[in-house]
Amino acid sequence: MIAPSILSADFARLADEVAAVRGADWLHVDVMDAHFVPNLTIGLPVVRDLAKVTDIPLDCHLMIDDPDTWAVRYAEAGAHNVTIHVEAAGDPVKIAKDLRAAGAKAGLSVKPNTPLEPYVELLRHYDTLLVMSVEPGFGGQEFIPEVLDKVRAARRLVDGGDLTVLVEIDGGINEDTIERAAAAGVDCFVAGSAVYGAADPAKTVAELRDRAAAASGRN
Ligand code: DX5
Ligand code: ZN
Repeated sequence: MIAPSILSADFARLADEVAAVRGADWLHVDVMDAHFVPNLTIGLPVVRDLAKVTDIPLDCHLMIDDPDTWAVRYAEAGAHNVTIHVEAAGDPVKIAKDLRAAGAKAGLSVKPNTPLEPYVELLRHYDTLLVMSVEPGFGGQEFIPEVLDKVRAARRLVDGGDLTVLVEIDGGINEDTIERAAAAGVDCFVAGSAVYGAADPAKTVAELRDRAAAASGRN
């Protein structure tokens, strides 16, 4: 699965930019509050309006300080998957339950330096695991390959039947890095600058998907 990140889109032409990635599996929406991360982006009203103009499932990545209060509202606004950061969550089990009760999938994200092991039990309550492959906050950063150890560990847990999460990666994914991530066991690839910086974003989505499929050794 390929999830273009609209962080790298032209925000003044957002509906057109969403239409430009037709064929994408998910549309990744980066919500930043200038507290959990230094940057500030968009919030609930934009998610609500995006849900009206596209059939692509919205994948909301909440880089915010208080997901306990806000996460469920993104589910109610029409998000398909709502991912919160484990580093910011007060009661992550309750958040997951609230998200699922509101009809969304629940996602848990770990920053590059956050280990996976302490959260394996917690992940039983979640549908997706988002492994950050850059420090959250900005698009266009360089891929951190060390995080692939966490992807491999998650893949083993899923393939061994211990977890059922979809494994997603976010940051620095492009035609040079996607194959390594696919080989490590990623299911869903977020790509911002690689897609929106390309002359033909929809074609780039298809090309990234083909590269990942070829490198994954799985169907
Ligand atoms: C970074 C965001 C990413 C960002 C990825 O904090 O979470 O989703 O859009 O951008 P690229 O693909 O350019 O690294
Ligand atoms: Zn993101």
